[in-house]
Amino acid sequence: MRWKVLAFGAAAAALLSATAALGGPQGDLPAGRGAVLFENRCARCHGVKGDGDGGLGPSLIGVLGRPAASRADYVYTDALKAAGGLWTAETLDTYLADPQAFAPGGEMDVNSPDPAERAAIIEHIATLK
Ligand code: HEC
Repeated sequence: MRWKVLAFGAAAAALLSATAALGGPQGDLPAGRGAVLFENRCARCHGVKGDGDGGLGPSLIGVLGRPAASRADYVYTDALKAAGGLWTAETLDTYLADPQAFAPGGEMDVNSPDPAERAAIIEHIATLK
């Protein structure tokens, strides 16, 4: 039985070092880059504190793990409501790359074509709780 525990430990260690090989929590970009990108590209439309702090766009507090278009304090387009789904790292990645492809006719029209930058921004979004 003991070998199973050891094998599991080795697998977990391999997983951890694989994550480290990606260059740490912010992928290829330096730590903290996601916060800067968010400030420069997102914060003018999105608040991060909670009810009523959104601007042109909804507050993004706690958005990771929430259903799309689900804040009661924001009036979403029918396009984003129809796109539906849950905001995971994957769906956020697709949306941020090309919001108009994800929700045609939706109100957000800011593309983030660089995958490393998207990863950094999503890492930052995960901290908005
Ligand atoms: C010019 C204003 C503007 C900018 C800049 C902007 N957004 Fe948006 N965003 C919006 C609007 C408006 C919506 C609502 C879309 C709808 O209802 O169709 C939205 C919706 C979203 C949603 C869905 C939220 C929910 O509650 O379902 C996410 C996530 C999001 N934006 C992330 C971002 C990120 C990350 C950035 C920066 C890379 C960004 N946005 C930049 C205006 C903006």
